[in-house]
Amino acid sequence: MKIVVASDHAGLDLKLEMIKVLEERKNSGEDIEINDIGTHDKNSTDYPMWGEKAAVEVAEGRADKGLIICGTGMGISLAANKVKGVRAAVCSDTYTAKMSREHNNCNMLALGARTLGTGLATDILNIWLDTPFEEGGRHQRRVDMLVDIENRRLK
Ligand code: RB5
Repeated sequence: MKIVVASDHAGLDLKLEMIKVLEERKNSGEDIEINDIGTHDKNSTDYPMWGEKAAVEVAEGRADKGLIICGTGMGISLAANKVKGVRAAVCSDTYTAKMSREHNNCNMLALGARTLGTGLATDILNIWLDTPFEEGGRHQRRVDMLVDIENRRLK
């Protein structure tokens, strides 16, 4: 699995912690390729740019999943969700993380560096990565409806 990772300045420290989690998974034998596209320093930068850059990697198939981090996870998720084909979930608890995969087939996870401790963020990330979409049935129909909204409403 290829995962694109991005944050703004507020999300940088948590992003580096989450990259360690991803590297641990990789070192345990998981097929995982990490692409950290930035930001790489603490200079103030704008979350919409990072949300869009990461989302485009997913939407254009260069990444299977995306992890995006800003102060709250909110701004960067709003940016990512403007990109057709992206379903980014802001998660502050493990149940939402699980459901965002199982029911919504979210392909991007947004975390808040100012709202989450590293321990909880780690649990959220691991559960999100470990949970498959519940294929078929009502969940597929509802995700298809989301895609239909994109096709009708977005250029
Ligand atoms: C940056 O100060 C902050 O606004 C940003 O990281 C994010 O929380 C926005 O949603």
